Amino acid sequence: MTRKAIYAGSFDPVTYGHLDVISRALRFFDELTVAVAASQDKNPLFSLPERVDMLSRVTGGMEGVCVEGFEGLLTGFAAKREVKLIIRGLRALTDFEYEFQMALTNRKLDDSVETVFMMPSEAFSYVSSSMIKEIVKLGGSVRAFVPLEIEEELKRKLRK
Ligand code: COA
Repeated sequence: MTRKAIYAGSFDPVTYGHLDVISRALRFFDELTVAVAASQDKNPLFSLPERVDMLSRVTGGMEGVCVEGFEGLLTGFAAKREVKLIIRGLRALTDFEYEFQMALTNRKLDDSVETVFMMPSEAFSYVSSSMIKEIVKLGGSVRAFVPLEIEEELKRKLRK
C-alpha cells in the first residue's frame, strides 16, 4: 500500500524550516503532496504559481514529492487526492492553539482526515516567512534561512 500524505501551508516563501519538515515526512511516506494554499487573506508577496514554482525547484531532487497549488478548503483538496493524512509543522508552543483549532475544524469538516504534527529541527523553530521578508526588505541576508535561489527571488520582489 502506498503511504500518502499532504503537507499544507502558504509557503510565502518556502524556508529551510519547511524543507526540514518535508525531509522528515519523507521517512514515513512514499508520496508527499506539498499543497500550497492560495491564502489570499494573507495577502501573499508571491503569487500562487510563483510559490508553487519556487517549491518545485527547491524540492526537485526529493523523490516522492509533488507540489500543487489549491484554492478552497484543504479537506476538499485532500478528498480529491484521496489522501487521509495532513502534516503540519509545530515550531513552538505559540503555534499550538492555532494548529489545535485548525486540526479539529478540519476533522469536523471531514472526519476521515487526520492531522499529524512534526517538529522541525530546533535550528528552525523560530523562523517564519514574514520575518524573512522583513529582513530582506531591510537589506539583511537570509542565507541561513532559505536556499540561495529563494533569497534571490525575495530580493527581486522586495528591493526594486
Ligand atoms: N519552518 C519555518 N516556518 C514555518 C514552518 C516551518 N516548519 N511552519 C510554519 N512556518 C511559518 C510560515 O512561514 C508562516 O509564517 P508567516 O505567517 O510569517 O507567513 C507561518 O508559520 C504559518 O504558515 P503556514 O504553516 O504556511 O500556515 P498558514 O497559516 O499560512 O496556512 C493553511 C495554513 C494554508 C494550511 C490553512 O490556512 C488552510 O488549510 N487553508 C485552506 C482553507 C481552509 O481549509 N480553511 C479551513 C482551515 S480550518
